[in-house]
Amino acid sequence: MSDGFGAAFLEEGEGATAGAFSDGLDAARAEIDRLWSRGREFLGCRLAIMGGAMTWVSERNLVAAISNAGGFGVIAAGSMAPLSLDAEIAATKALTRRPFGVNLITMHPHLFELIDVSLNHRVGHVVLAGGVPPRAALARVKEGGAKVLCFAPSLGIARKLIRLGADAIVIEGNEAGGHIGPVTTAVLAQEILPHLDAVPVFVAGGIGRGEAIVSYLEMGAAGVQLGTRFVCAHESIAHPRFKQAFIRASARDAVSSVQLDPRLPVIPVRALANPATQRFREMQREVIERFAQGELSQKEAQLEIERFWAGALRRAVIDGDIERGSLMAGQSVGFVSREQSTGEILEELFGQALAVLAARERRARASPLAAAPRDRA
Ligand SMILES: Cc1cc2nc3c(=O)[nH]c(=O)nc-3n(C[C@H](O)[C@H](O)[C@H](O)COP(=O)(O)O)c2cc1C
Repeated sequence: MSDGFGAAFLEEGEGATAGAFSDGLDAARAEIDRLWSRGREFLGCRLAIMGGAMTWVSERNLVAAISNAGGFGVIAAGSMAPLSLDAEIAATKALTRRPFGVNLITMHPHLFELIDVSLNHRVGHVVLAGGVPPRAALARVKEGGAKVLCFAPSLGIARKLIRLGADAIVIEGNEAGGHIGPVTTAVLAQEILPHLDAVPVFVAGGIGRGEAIVSYLEMGAAGVQLGTRFVCAHESIAHPRFKQAFIRASARDAVSSVQLDPRLPVIPVRALANPATQRFREMQREVIERFAQGELSQKEAQLEIERFWAGALRRAVIDGDIERGSLMAGQSVGFVSREQSTGEILEELFGQALAVLAARERRARASPLAAAPRDRA
C-alpha cells in the first residue's frame, strides 16, 4: 500500500475505507476498467497484468501467487521436459483455481509434446516465445481449445503472426530482462499499438510502476507483462542472494550482452553485470575461434552461446551463485527495493495506476475548462 491506495485495490463494495479516497477514485476505477477490459476478458482475470514467464523463477509458487492475487501467472517451461511440465501444471492447479498460462520456447526439441501436455491439462493460454513459431504449433494449440499468444518484434511480424492464428500479441522492448530485441518498448509500442486492433496486444519491458501501465493502456494496449518486478516476491523461489542482487541494483546495472561476431548473431541478454558477463564475452571469443577453425558449425556455435546463459541462469536463480550465474534482469530492477508479497506488488502497481488517473480527474474537475458549457457562457 505504498501509495495509500490499498483500499482502491478492493473489489467494489469491499472495505469501507475506499470512501476516504473517493475524490476522483470512482472515475479512475471506471477508466482503468474501460482501458484494460479487453485484456482482462482475454486472460480471464481481474488485473490485465501478466507475470512474464521467467525460466527457473516462474514455477508453481510464483505463478499461483500472481493468479491468486488477480493477475495472470505464466509457467516458464523453457527448461522443462514434458514430464516436468506435466507435474508443474498439476502442482500449480493445486495452488490456484484461477487461470494461468504456459510459456513454451519454440526451439524446444519437444515443443509439440509440451503443447499436448498443456492441452491435456486444459491450460487456457499458451505463450509461444523465442522466435516466430511454426504454423503447426499455433494450429495444434488452437485445435486443442487454448488461446495462443506470440511475441512480435515488429508490426510486420505481428501481422504475420495474426495471419498464422495468434490470438494475442506480446511486444517486449529492449529494456526487459532475459533475451531481448534491439528496439525499446516505447518505440515498439508506437510502431505497433496504433495499427493493430485485430487482437489484444500486451506490452512488456521496463514496466515498473502503475503510471507506465496506464500510459501503454492509453496507447491501445490490452494489458501488460512484467517479469523483473516479480523476482523478489516472497512467493518467488529465487535464491536469497539472487533477490539481494536485484534489491541492490539500479536500472543501469541491467546491461545487454554484446555480440562479438556478426557471423554468429546472438540474441542479446539483459542481465545484471557480474563476472559471468565478462566470462560470456570470453566464451564467445572461444566459440568464434572454434567456428573459425571449422571445429563447430555455425548452428553448433550459436547453440553453445545460447546454452551458456541457460545453464548460468539456473546457477544464479536456484544455487545462488551470483558470480558465475546469469542475473537476468530488466532495467525495471531499479524499482525493486525490497521483498514483497505478490499481492502487495500487484496492489502497488494498481494503486499507482489509479492514483495517476484520479489525479487527472481531480485536475479536470478543478479546471475552469471542465465546467459545463452553459456555466462558462
Ligand atoms: C530472470 C528472467 C528470466 C526470463 N525468462 C524468460 C523465458 O523463459 N521465456 C520468456 O518468454 N521470457 C522470459 N523472460 C522475460 C519475461 O517473461 C518478461 O517478458 C520480461 O521480464 C518483461 O520485462 P521486465 O523484466 O522489464 O518486466 C525472462 C525475464 C527474466 C528477468
